[in-house]
Amino acid sequence: MTSTDLIQKDKKTFVPPAYLDDYEHALKGFDWNSIHKELEWFDKDHMNAAHNAVDRHTKTANRNKVAVIYESSSGKIEKYTYLDLKHQSNKFANVLTKLGIKKGERVFLFLPRIPEVYATFLGTLKIGAIASTLFSAFGEDALLDRLGHSKAKMVVTTPDLFKRLASIKDKLPDLTYVVLVSTDLIPQKEGLVSSVPILIDYKKEMLEASKNFTVVKTHAEDPAFLLYTSGSTGKPKGVVHAHMAILQQYYTHKMIHDVHPEDVYWCTADHGWVTGISYGILGPLANGGTILQYEGRFDPEIWYETLERHEVNIWYTAPTAIRMLMKAGLEVVKKYDFSHLRHIYSVGEPLNPEAIRWGMQAFKKPFHDTWWQTETGSMLIVNYPTMPIKLGSMGKPFPGITAAVLDHDGKEVSADVEGDLAIKRGWPSMMRTLWHDEERYKKLFKGDWYITGDRARKDSDGYFWYIGRADDVIKTSGERVGPFEVESVLVEHPAIAEAAVIGKPDELRGEIIKAFITLRAGFTPNPDLEEDIKKFVKQHLAAHAYPREMAFMDKLPKTRSGKIMRRLLKARELGLPEGDTSTLED
Ligand code: PRX
Repeated sequence: MTSTDLIQKDKKTFVPPAYLDDYEHALKGFDWNSIHKELEWFDKDHMNAAHNAVDRHTKTANRNKVAVIYESSSGKIEKYTYLDLKHQSNKFANVLTKLGIKKGERVFLFLPRIPEVYATFLGTLKIGAIASTLFSAFGEDALLDRLGHSKAKMVVTTPDLFKRLASIKDKLPDLTYVVLVSTDLIPQKEGLVSSVPILIDYKKEMLEASKNFTVVKTHAEDPAFLLYTSGSTGKPKGVVHAHMAILQQYYTHKMIHDVHPEDVYWCTADHGWVTGISYGILGPLANGGTILQYEGRFDPEIWYETLERHEVNIWYTAPTAIRMLMKAGLEVVKKYDFSHLRHIYSVGEPLNPEAIRWGMQAFKKPFHDTWWQTETGSMLIVNYPTMPIKLGSMGKPFPGITAAVLDHDGKEVSADVEGDLAIKRGWPSMMRTLWHDEERYKKLFKGDWYITGDRARKDSDGYFWYIGRADDVIKTSGERVGPFEVESVLVEHPAIAEAAVIGKPDELRGEIIKAFITLRAGFTPNPDLEEDIKKFVKQHLAAHAYPREMAFMDKLPKTRSGKIMRRLLKARELGLPEGDTSTLED
């Protein structure tokens, strides 16, 4: 390892605050139980995450502190204090109660990055119901799978996004209410009272609702939020997180992101994904911090302007975004002042050493990589702020986390040997089950080890290095896509007989989706058909989950039992050894 592969912390520019111990020291005697007292509990077993995120702070001078700075796509800026968030989430809790939504029932947010996300997410938790979020790029099939499987009772959305819901609502018998945060675009407002599901006018209800509410005394183990995420087989699975998760979200945000009370913090992730919940809502609010919520899309200059205008101190983003910024060049960076940035972080996909080196030039700071998953609820393997960064490594396990690299028998392998990345069960934000699929949940563990599905190695200094997925899950622009979901939509297209989908390495997006397709009789491949297939997948599944590349084949490689061999397609595509082909059909 050369000296350029290791970034030591510059003691002149980074003086760690007193609570940020040296990593080795922080590990000693660490116990999650000792953090419990930093949150507010109703009694030793009961706590509510929304109370801890918001209401707790309104008992102090923090009540008038800005909790959320919202910047809309058109540049409008609004600010919400902790007291505002308390009142708005209380009002929404009262609306839910009035409509008869009960503890444990599922309330989905299908929203862009707008402030209503906070009031509705937190209000749902306050009554003990389970909140879930849907990425606003989702199409009809993606919505139907998630809302149907969880038997969602309510969806909160905008009139524009509602159009996608309208075409599937008849297939969702449990969906009783759709709350529209704005009704401006609904031509016939009288429809608001008569249709099924019943349409609710958010603004009207919120205006009428009381701002006082007594938060339900949830058990720390009660489910708080549910997030559907993709595996390599089958439909997306519903990862269930308990109120207790906030303990780890709070503490990791404090220690890893090293937020100070006066900081402005920007997490670029959408609330539709776990990062947008754990570190876009719960972690930062639990710390009483100020969050920047930026509604607009990615654009290098706009992002730089946003960092500068809001004097962002702590920035949490993702490798694809960083690579896109790199592509826009260093010249443009020089136009902006980033002197207020104290730490920058990355999550979601492997962070290449070049991206860290570029970050050093552009922002005079290294990006700190952090590794975790929807299932883990919070950051687990990280480049702790006081630790030297090994370029290309995910870092070391956070105190209180035991991580290991295991062989097939569940035994730890030696240093630098590849194996399955596993985490010892029992961290506070560990998923508690998979929604209505306890069997599948149990299969994620080998004894006390949660098998993450990632392949990794650990070096002799204890740093973990990401190698790849053990399964067929695709990470495109940091977003997790299940090949089966894409294949299922592809075969619904009238021209397609069979389809197999793989993740193909891509310099910018980490991976892109490539589909191998056989056509039905009477159809021939042509550019118009390709475009039509892409459009079809975007509409049915999601705007980000369509195949950017397609190969039309006469037949797909299958096992003798008829299963399409994605692994073989991938090996052939990448020019890798084909491995065992003894089960191949012919
Ligand atoms: O493969 C790993 C990759 O993202 C997966 C988890 O995806 P998701 O549940 O969508 O959560 C992403 C945000 C928490 C992991 O199994 N991944 C996540 N972080 C990293 C990563 N791969 C490499 N390096 C990382 N830092």
